[in-house]
Amino acid sequence: MKLYVDTADVDRIRDVAALGVVDGVTTNPSIVAEAGVGYREAVESVADTVDGPVFAQTIAADVDGMVREGRAYQAWADEVVVKLPATREGFAALARLRADGVPAGTTVVFSAEQAVLAAKNDASFVAPYVGRLDDAGADGVGAVERICRIYDAQGFETDVLAASVRNTTQALALYEAGVDAVTMSPDVLEAHVGHPKTAEGMAGFEAAWGDRGSPIGE
Ligand code: E4P
Repeated sequence: MKLYVDTADVDRIRDVAALGVVDGVTTNPSIVAEAGVGYREAVESVADTVDGPVFAQTIAADVDGMVREGRAYQAWADEVVVKLPATREGFAALARLRADGVPAGTTVVFSAEQAVLAAKNDASFVAPYVGRLDDAGADGVGAVERICRIYDAQGFETDVLAASVRNTTQALALYEAGVDAVTMSPDVLEAHVGHPKTAEGMAGFEAAWGDRGSPIGE
């Protein structure tokens, strides 16, 4: 399973990458706008900061524009995977980019039907929005589980990349569901680290050792 962080903030990427578990970075137009830099600068600086794929979403509303942007992003960094929206235009652009072998997939996915269209187009990934499905009163994790079952039944090779993950409860349910990848904010990833009983245990060990110093004489 791949773990991605959903941010264009290179300082935060460096912080969480030190945990040794970050397989790549996902971005979207809101994330890049929030970073306060241009799209190219964001993609290049993220690609320089992390080992692994950098997911970059198109902005254009028309098919030709999406295809042009996707190709340009790819020229900025080899690690780019193009994110196209689950719209009529997005699927058409996906078909063209995948036919040329460009790594590209479908994002802003809210239904299993959209996930089927993505897989039939040989999408590199499909990104269902778990948290936003929950916000809309649906079952985000349940929707991802259904997509996984359909993909298994049909032998589709598109990776299921669960997105819009808001907390570790959702993340754990997605790991259990066997997704190929999960993307989350640095905060949600950091929330995997601590446990009050770990802190308590460590305080006990430190108190017990007292001022005896380093066991290797440093
Ligand atoms: C996925 O790649 C998207 O960038 C992201 O997960 C959207 O999440 P949000 O609902 O927190 O905006």
